[in-house]
Amino acid sequence: MKFNSLPRVRLASLPTPIQFLPNLTEKLGGPKIWVKRDDLTGLAFGGNKARKLEYLMADAVENNADYIVTGAGFHSNWCTQTAAAAKKLGLKIKLIKFGPRPGYDGDDWDGNHLLHHLMGAEITVVKPDDFMSTIEATMKKLKDEGHRPYYIPVGGSVALGAAGYLNAMLELKYQTAEMGLQFDYLVHATGSGGTQAGLVAGSKAFNTGIKVIGACVGYTEKEAQIERVKEIIQETKEKLELDFTVEDDDLIAYNEYVGGGYGYISEEKAEAVKLLAETEGICIDPVYTATAMACLIDLAKKGEFTDKDNVLFLHTGGAVALFPYKEPLKAHIEKKPLPWTVPKWSPQQE
Ligand SMILES: Cc1ncc(COP(=O)(O)O)c(C=O)c1O
Repeated sequence: MKFNSLPRVRLASLPTPIQFLPNLTEKLGGPKIWVKRDDLTGLAFGGNKARKLEYLMADAVENNADYIVTGAGFHSNWCTQTAAAAKKLGLKIKLIKFGPRPGYDGDDWDGNHLLHHLMGAEITVVKPDDFMSTIEATMKKLKDEGHRPYYIPVGGSVALGAAGYLNAMLELKYQTAEMGLQFDYLVHATGSGGTQAGLVAGSKAFNTGIKVIGACVGYTEKEAQIERVKEIIQETKEKLELDFTVEDDDLIAYNEYVGGGYGYISEEKAEAVKLLAETEGICIDPVYTATAMACLIDLAKKGEFTDKDNVLFLHTGGAVALFPYKEPLKAHIEKKPLPWTVPKWSPQQE
C-alpha cells in the first residue's frame, strides 16, 4: 500500500498555522522560536491525534466497523479525539480507561473525562493491570453480540497513525517553501511514539533537513523510547512501502523533563505553561506540551541551539487538561508550594 493512495477521511482542519513567537524568542535570547499549531486541528479541542485518526478511521470505515474500541489513561486526550472522530462518523465508541487510585471520586467530571461523557462514550474504568484483558473481553463481547468492533491501540501509534505525521511533515515542507524558511529543529512531546515516528519518517522521506527532538512524557529510559519509535518507523516503512534510511542520530529523546512520571506536574512544567501564556497568549497542557516546552527552554538556555537556528515547537494540543490541574497551577502563579504533584486520577502514589 503506497502512502499517497492510503484511504483517508478528512477530520482535521489542515494545514495548521505556523506562527513566530517574538516575545518568547526575546525572553530566551537565542534561537528564533516558532510554533506549529496542531492544537488547532479542530477535532473536539484539537490536537495531534486528529491527523492519526484520518487514516485509522478510514481503515475502520473500510472494515465496516460499527464500534470503535480503544483506551488510555483517565484524562486521555487520545480518548477525547477518538470519541469525537467516532461520533462525527456515526460510530459508537467504548473507552477502557485506567487510572484512578482507590479513593478518587470518579464522579468529579472535569477536563477530558467530562468530554468523554459529553460525547456519549461508553466508559469502563479499570486498574492498569486489567487494561488489556478488559479490552480483549470488550472486543469479544461486542463480536458475540453481532457487532463489528474495530480496535485501535493506545495513542493510535501504529503505521496508519504515524502516516498522519508523515503527512504533517509534507505539509510543513510546503509551508516552509512558501515562507522561504528552513527549520533546524522541531521539538515535541513523545509518548506512545507514533507522532515522533511519523515526524522522523517524514523528515527522512521528504528530505526536510529538520532534526526532530522528542521530550518523553512518561518515565521511560531514552533507549526504550527510541526503540519504540524505531519499531513504529519500521512498521510504517513496510506498510506504506517507503524507501529511506534512519540513522541513530535521527532519533533523539530527552527524559529529563518528566519530573516524577507521567502526569506529574513540576514547577518547571507549571512555569512552561505560564511562560507561553504570558508571553504569547498560547495555552499548553501540563502533561505533554509543557514537558516539551520545558525541554525547549532548557536546551535553549544551555546553548544547544545557535542564535541562527529556527526552532519549531509542535503544539500537540491537550490544553483542556489545564482545568483538572488548576490547584497546582494556581499555587505556582501565587508563588506557593504545589499542593500536589501526582494527580488523584493517576494510579501512581505521591
Ligand atoms: C497533547 C499530546 N501531545 C503529545 C502526545 C504524544 O503523542 P504520541 O503518543 O504519538 O507520542 C499526546 C498523546 O496522547 C498528547 O495527548
